Amino acid sequence: MIAHRQQSFDLTPYTIPTHVAIIMDGNGRWARQRGLPRQAGHRAGAENLRRIVSACVEFGVKILTIYAFSTENWGRPESEVRGLMKIFARVLDQEIHDLHAQGVCLHHLGDLTGIDPSLQAKVRRALEMTKENDRLILNVAFNYGGRAEILHAVRQMLADGLAPEDLTEGLFSSYLFTAGLPDPDIVVRTSGELRISNFLIWQAAYAEYYPTPAFWPDFDREELYKAIVAYNQRERRFGMVTE
Ligand code: IPE
Ligand code: IPE
Ligand code: MG
Repeated sequence: MIAHRQQSFDLTPYTIPTHVAIIMDGNGRWARQRGLPRQAGHRAGAENLRRIVSACVEFGVKILTIYAFSTENWGRPESEVRGLMKIFARVLDQEIHDLHAQGVCLHHLGDLTGIDPSLQAKVRRALEMTKENDRLILNVAFNYGGRAEILHAVRQMLADGLAPEDLTEGLFSSYLFTAGLPDPDIVVRTSGELRISNFLIWQAAYAEYYPTPAFWPDFDREELYKAIVAYNQRERRFGMVTE
């Protein structure tokens, strides 16, 4: 077996963001650039996820949230949606043991109802298998939309009989799919798009936004390192002024 020596990055001067969120965009354009079908781009994107999860574990990121499928992505051609579901099922079957071995604890953000029952079962099994792991929390936003998440939270709060005066930002957060987790420190969007596309619209209120032209399948360990370096050059003020 050939051991590929990986470039070593010195992270000691840097603060590692606790929570990294990524809008994994550009699979289709990555494929088109190569004259390949979009599905080949999605496959390459899924392979890249494995690399980025390992890099997060290596760099000491504690929470990685990835946008895998939005509530709006149902509007794509049926064949593409079917292809994406096939990839999710395969990743859950084939990668889950490796993720488990790396100490990854899987969380799901979004709505599982309406998903194919066999895929739902795979998700539930993966959540159960990895629930005690604590090296990296991997939140997979799948059938996720920020607006749907907020509506879901409001419905739950009404169902719980909360009074208007009970509501605080902290309580509201505890009704979101990310309950109990700190907000993302950095939101990466690959492929050069400059929009949020309904991703973590509550939680990312003060995240550092990091757009990069790299298509998702090309966003490698070095790109993640560059994002962390850029994050360290930002001054987070949270609305206040610097001394
Ligand atoms: C991201 O890549 C994957 C999903 C949204 C599921 P795209 O499929 O959006 O790729 P582009 O934006 O068309 O290049
Ligand atoms: C956002 O990408 C959703 C995911 C990455 C899953 P899209 O490609 O769907 O977003 P738009 O349509 O460019 O805003
Ligand atoms: Mg896209």
